[in-house]
Amino acid sequence: MYSSKIIGLGHHVPETVITNQYLSNLMDTNNEWIVERTGINERRWIDPKVDTVANMAAKATRMALKNAKLTEQDIDFIVFATITPDYFFPGSGVLLQRELGLDGRIGAIDIRNACSGFIYALSVADQFIKTGMYKNVLVVGAEIQSTALDITTRGRNTAVIFGDGAGAAILQRSDKPGVLSTHLHSDGHFAEELYVKDPGSSRPHAERQPEQILDTTSFKVVMNGSQVFKHAVVRFNEVINEALEKNNLKKEDINLLIPHQANLRISQFIQQKLALRDDQVFNNIMRYGNTTAASIPIAMSEAWAEGRIKENDLLCLAAFGSGFTWASALIRW
Ligand code: COA
Repeated sequence: MYSSKIIGLGHHVPETVITNQYLSNLMDTNNEWIVERTGINERRWIDPKVDTVANMAAKATRMALKNAKLTEQDIDFIVFATITPDYFFPGSGVLLQRELGLDGRIGAIDIRNACSGFIYALSVADQFIKTGMYKNVLVVGAEIQSTALDITTRGRNTAVIFGDGAGAAILQRSDKPGVLSTHLHSDGHFAEELYVKDPGSSRPHAERQPEQILDTTSFKVVMNGSQVFKHAVVRFNEVINEALEKNNLKKEDINLLIPHQANLRISQFIQQKLALRDDQVFNNIMRYGNTTAASIPIAMSEAWAEGRIKENDLLCLAAFGSGFTWASALIRW
């Protein structure tokens, strides 16, 4: 059987830097609160005249292709993780395909698993490669959360956390070990603890197509922060151990853990629980906030560019988010 290797990584974030100070002009919050509770100093927000989910993904993809020494024409399939597509439908996978000029030749699917989306997408791509169906699969995570945030004091526990961005990985068929295993979980009992309700298809006409939406929170991100935190720390730990056990490996074998950048306190909790050294964990949430499905590929791309991932290293990815969903992947680089 084939295995799949990541042979190129890339990322793109919007130009506009949103500092904690800037947010404190919009809502009742302050730099100290945000840094202490989340570890975030700044995040990027899109300029709607410039950025879309698909064009940010295209920029990340071009960087990944360059690093992989491939061209657009080499891509056999697109797996696009986003919960913030440019349109309600179709998904942003086909828009990326259009941006890349690959009209009609290849397929594209969207994965809607929030912060776990990139690992789910990686897993889907890995299966396509292992069965021999495709050779080069583009796996992308890209999100625009900023325009769905409630940027008033009412939404402050959520608005300070999220940011926009895109990351991409090129997965290629190989006869050497690469993605060792992926572990996917979900529990829909908690769907409403972190969600955007509208425009939900099961809603009556007037609610799905309101005359004006200014007074309703149902189009904005709603999060029960303490529930999310409580479950995240348990599931992250479980799903990392599940991956290690499956491959008969120990936590000491991990060269680099790249956790989904949910919140620095969550990453630090996991690091402590697994007794990992600082050099075994990569965090960049300080600069970008939580970019949902884009956070792992952006972090991977930066870690790789900084020389933190070397050949034969054991890389562990882990995520938790809306759904709830959680997932992990072990990769031999
Ligand atoms: N600025 C200042 N004060 C804020 C605030 C903000 N941005 N957001 C909330 N507060 C206030 C609350 O109103 C509350 O005030 P009160 O005690 O007077 O009612 C107080 O701070 C504590 O609120 P609480 O929600 O209990 O804080 P917390 O310690 O749970 O921290 C989160 C909130 C969101 C930072 C925390 O729950 C968290 O990190 N959860 C996980 C979120 C996450 O990772 N999401 C992504 C999942 S992929």
